[in-house]
Amino acid sequence: MIKYVNSIENINEDNIKGFFVGWANPPSSKKHLEILKGSTYFWLAVDEGKGKVVGFITAISDKIVSSYITFLEVLPEYRNIGIGTELFKRMKGTLENYYMIDLICDEKLVGFYRKFDMFKSQGMIIRNLKKQSGE
Ligand SMILES: CC(C)(COP(=O)(O)OP(=O)(O)OC[C@H]1O[C@@H](n2cnc3c(N)ncnc32)[C@H](O)[C@@H]1OP(=O)(O)O)[C@@H](O)C(=O)NCCC(=O)NCCS
Repeated sequence: MIKYVNSIENINEDNIKGFFVGWANPPSSKKHLEILKGSTYFWLAVDEGKGKVVGFITAISDKIVSSYITFLEVLPEYRNIGIGTELFKRMKGTLENYYMIDLICDEKLVGFYRKFDMFKSQGMIIRNLKKQSGE
């Protein structure tokens, strides 16, 4: 059974592991918790049976007009069973009163986000790889 929570009560470095798949220098579990705490909003998917976080979504906001979805990730062994969709729906609901709900994604995910009435725009980014781990 997967439950969805927006609190880090009972979440610790031991039960939030395995995320940032494919990153050269991923944030540690400790840094991951700091990312959640530092985000304006987040939702977690928790496998109740295993007592571990299996997906998360975060957003930052000015709390007036703009919001930006920073991360959405589901652990590989939990993908394609609707968890990413549920996390995104919950965050979209959380952000429903903002004028701007933005994110950057790879081309292959455009179809996934279109399902939630998002549309393509232009994006410009900087990626400072030396700072990827947050250390
Ligand atoms: C993208 C991601 C969060 C989706 O989570 P999920 O729990 O597998 O998603 P769901 O099961 O709710 O939905 C799966 C649907 O999205 C599609 N989908 C999932 N990942 C996809 C991908 N990489 N490319 C294209 N489509 C994808 C599936 O085909 C499926 O479509 P359907 O509903 O029409 O069958 C997950 O694949 C993931 O963690 N990817 C790595 C991190 C990432 O890329 N995050 C997005 C950053 S912008």
